[in-house]
Amino acid sequence: MKALITAGGHGTRLRPITHTQNKHLIPIANKPILSYALDYVKEAGIREVGIITNKDGSEVKDVYGDGRQMGLAITYIPQERPAGLADCVRIAEPFIGTEPFVFYLGDNIIVGGIKRFIDEFHSRKSHCHLVLARVPDPERFGVPEIRDNRIVRIEEKPEKPKSDYAVTGIYIYDSSIFDAVNSIKPSARGELEISDAHQYLIEKGLTVTYSEITGWWKDTGKPNDLLEANRLVLDNIQTNIVGNIDKDSHISGRVIIQEGCKIQNSNIRGPVIIGSGTRITNAYIGPYTSIERNCLIQDSEIEYSIVSEACKISDQKIRIEGSLLGKGVQIVRAKSKPFTNRFIVGDQSIVEIR
Ligand code: TTP
Repeated sequence: MKALITAGGHGTRLRPITHTQNKHLIPIANKPILSYALDYVKEAGIREVGIITNKDGSEVKDVYGDGRQMGLAITYIPQERPAGLADCVRIAEPFIGTEPFVFYLGDNIIVGGIKRFIDEFHSRKSHCHLVLARVPDPERFGVPEIRDNRIVRIEEKPEKPKSDYAVTGIYIYDSSIFDAVNSIKPSARGELEISDAHQYLIEKGLTVTYSEITGWWKDTGKPNDLLEANRLVLDNIQTNIVGNIDKDSHISGRVIIQEGCKIQNSNIRGPVIIGSGTRITNAYIGPYTSIERNCLIQDSEIEYSIVSEACKISDQKIRIEGSLLGKGVQIVRAKSKPFTNRFIVGDQSIVEIR
C-alpha cells in the first residue's frame, strides 16, 4: 500500500503566516504539521509516499528530501494550481498505479494513528473507506447522510447538513477512485471536489464504508485550529528536561526543555515545550505554549500560544495569550522617545492591543 499526502493548497485562512511559509510546515508542539502525517503513515507500515505540493514545492522538499532519514521513500507530485482534492488524486495516478492507497490531507492531526482505518478498509472489502468525526460545525466540511449504517449521500459544505459528521482528511481507496476523479466536473468554485468523487462511487453502487474517530481530530485550517491542535498534542507530552534551569526558576507540570535552553528566574507551567537554544529570562510561560528554537522571552508572560523560531518577546506588561507568531517576530518595548506603539507588520497581520 502507498500513501498520498497533500501539502499544496492556498492556505488563505492562515494568512499572513502562509504568505511566507507553507502551512504544512507550521510547528505544532515544535514539529511541522506535515511530520505528523508522515509519522502516522510510517506507523501503519507504509514506506512509499507521494506528497502533493504547489507548483514550486521546494520548501517541503528542502525539509524532507527523499524521505530516507525518516525511513520513507518520498516522491513529490507538483500540482499546476490548487484545483481541488480530487485533482490531487487525479494527478497522482501514475505514482499510485493500481494498488489501494491512503489519501491523507497533510494539515490534519489525529490521535491514535491510521492503521485501524486501513484494517477496516481491508476487512470490509471496501472500494472507499471514509473516516468521520462528529463536529459542532458540519457545514464547514463534506457531510455524509447516513441511513442504516450506510453512507447514502455526501455533500460538500452544505447549508443544511444532513448529519453532524464531517468527512475528515483521511481516506482509503482502491483504484476505482481514479474513474471517479476523471469523470466528475469542477464545482461552482472551480475545484474538483473530493465529495463529488465519493458521491460518484456511491451512485455507481461501489462499497463506501466508514469509521468514526473516537479520539480527537483537528483540521488545522484556521489560527484557532492550530492553537487547539497544539493544546491537544501538548496534553500528551512526557517531561524531558535537558536544558539549563537556574535555582530561581520554578517548573511545574509536564515540560520539554531541549538542549542549550537557558531558563533564568522564570516560572514555567506545563504542558509546555521549549526548543533548543531558547532563552527565557524573568518570564512566565503558561500552559499549552510551544516555543521553537533560538527565541528570547524576557520580562514577559505568555500562554496558550505558538512561537516560531528566532522570535524575541521582551518587556511586555500584559500577558500574551492565544497568539501565533511566525519566524523571527519581535514584540519589544520602545527603547527611546517617543514611547509610542510602533508596528511593522506585513499584509493581513492581526494585532490586538488592550
Ligand atoms: P484546504 O484546507 O481545504 O484548502 P487550502 O489549504 O487551500 O486552505 P484555505 O481554504 O485556507 O485557502 O486543503 C486541505 C488540504 O489539501 C491541505 O493539506 C492543502 C491541500 N490541498 C492541495 O494540496 N491541493 C489543492 O488543490 C487543495 C484545494 C488543497
